[in-house]
Amino acid sequence: MSADLEPMLALARRALENAHAPYSRFRVGACLRAGSGRLYAGCNVENAAYPVGQCAEATAIGAMVAAGDREIVESLVASEGAELCTPCGRCRQQLAEFARPGVRVHLCGPEGVRRTVTLGELLPLAFGPETLGPLRPDDAAGTP
Ligand code: THU
Repeated sequence: MSADLEPMLALARRALENAHAPYSRFRVGACLRAGSGRLYAGCNVENAAYPVGQCAEATAIGAMVAAGDREIVESLVASEGAELCTPCGRCRQQLAEFARPGVRVHLCGPEGVRRTVTLGELLPLAFGPETLGPLRPDDAAGTP
């Protein structure tokens, strides 16, 4: 594993430890590297009303946006199961809002990185912000 992935994996694992997953008992941690170089982690947050639960990637994206970053340059998902844990369809779309197709998604288990794929492989022919055409400068900043 490359040295720059170690902090991402450590943060994702720490977030996983804090996951609120009493219903599925499937804990997930995620970490995003933003264009600024800052790292943002998140865990899944389930809810007694099952469909209201939030994935780890969505939690990390929310932390990133709240902190003022808008571009994902690398991402990592950590899980504990025997099977490869890939981002769900909704998370793929949410990642595509802030990440280009070439952005790497590292899929990890307890032993480390199991596989690395690109967002474009996970979500080919994505419907993204560019599909809507050019934004007005103020829109891109997210200001009213
Ligand atoms: N989950 C994530 O947090 N991220 C993924 O990439 C896949 C699934 C969560 C959602 C739910 O809390 C649990 O895993 C079982 O589906």
